[in-house]
Amino acid sequence: MNNFEFVNPTRLIFGKGQISRLNDLVKKGTKVLMTYGGGSIKKNGVYDQVKEGLKGCEVIEFGGIEANPDYNTLIKAVDICKKESVEFILAVGGGSIIDGTKFIACAANYKGDDPWQIVVNDKETLPAALDFGTVLTLPATASEMNNGAVISRRDLNQKFAFHNPNGFPKFSILDPTVVYSLPKKQISNGIVDTYAHTLEQYLTTCLDTKVMDRWAEALLLTLIEEAPELMKAESHPNYDSCANFMLTATMGLNGFIAMGVEQDWATHMIGHELTALCGLDHGETLAIVYPGLMDVMRKEKHGKLLQYARRVWNIDDKDEEKAIDMAIEKTEGFFRSIGKKTRLSEYGIGQDVIEEIVRRFTERSWRLGENGIVTPEKARMILERVK
Ligand code: NZQ
Ligand code: ZN
Repeated sequence: MNNFEFVNPTRLIFGKGQISRLNDLVKKGTKVLMTYGGGSIKKNGVYDQVKEGLKGCEVIEFGGIEANPDYNTLIKAVDICKKESVEFILAVGGGSIIDGTKFIACAANYKGDDPWQIVVNDKETLPAALDFGTVLTLPATASEMNNGAVISRRDLNQKFAFHNPNGFPKFSILDPTVVYSLPKKQISNGIVDTYAHTLEQYLTTCLDTKVMDRWAEALLLTLIEEAPELMKAESHPNYDSCANFMLTATMGLNGFIAMGVEQDWATHMIGHELTALCGLDHGETLAIVYPGLMDVMRKEKHGKLLQYARRVWNIDDKDEEKAIDMAIEKTEGFFRSIGKKTRLSEYGIGQDVIEEIVRRFTERSWRLGENGIVTPEKARMILERVK
């Protein structure tokens, strides 16, 4: 097991009816910027519950943050924070709103001339973010309990992640009933995203990390078990399935399964390019790339792939390569069973996009994956494999 340090200061408040806890979580009289997206919260009752919870605070609303939050939108909220001396930001939404809020909260205290440097320059020293909390409406990213954020710039066709050590949410409220109003496409995006986060930290080097391995396997098995209930067409899923899904998503990327292990993240980096260049949802990109990466990197990941085949998919074939083939097929089959496409051609994405991604990775001298094993050439092979 590798050495590690663990800290996660976010206060998690979980369960039915918990949005009302805003009453005691945000002090009366606080000047609050409430950030949200395109309006789903006004249809499912979350907006009203939040407004009720913030009674007695001075609330400025900033709606309209798009999925894959855009720098040029967020920068307008940064101006509001500065002009109005906002004291606290409350993000109400999915990963895009929370990520966007992390950027706003950091940029509001940033002294440099060009706030885009927060996102693209990993040498930049980031200021402590303005205090913020979240009301999560979409289980997927775990942004509610980590310090990462992914910001897009449509004017440059770019999408990059940044991490702020002083940028965790102060609290996050997770009421599983928010899942009831989610379109099935968003539920399946959330399932794939959580599955991929878990694999990024699990399917790497064998380091005898028994606790993290079994936690990760528990998350994967929970997703596989709950998926049919979560995706059923007739009605919304039952409460406990929503609760299990929501907690799984948070645990997938809040630091617990990362303790002492190597991490990959090449699938995410390739996926971000597919979103930036072709507009696919984040979850859609991962469902395509992951099975390809498993196959192309099978030698380097042999030990963990075999463990994954045995323990997650119960494949006991003595032929190890065959067992791994079956596990890759099972993975792709699982994504397809929840309505995801798994090939580039199904979205009309061709060779030109593959070439552009390889060109960008080469230009940036990126060596992705654990120990830099995913070179630009490997990225090409992965994308060719899922054409
Ligand atoms: O904008 P509204 O109208 O609210 O609709 C949203 C949006 O269209 C809708 N939605 C959210 N909650 C709903 C709902 N509709 C009905 N009922 C509800 N309860 O869902 C749509 C997608 O929302 P979005 O926030 O974009 O989804 P998600 O949570 O999947 O976030 C994706 C973003 O997070 C980044 C991705 O790259 C992408 O930009 N990620 C962030 C990470 C992090 N911070 O740690 C890690 C991830 O790997 C990921 O990269
Ligand atoms: Zn993700």
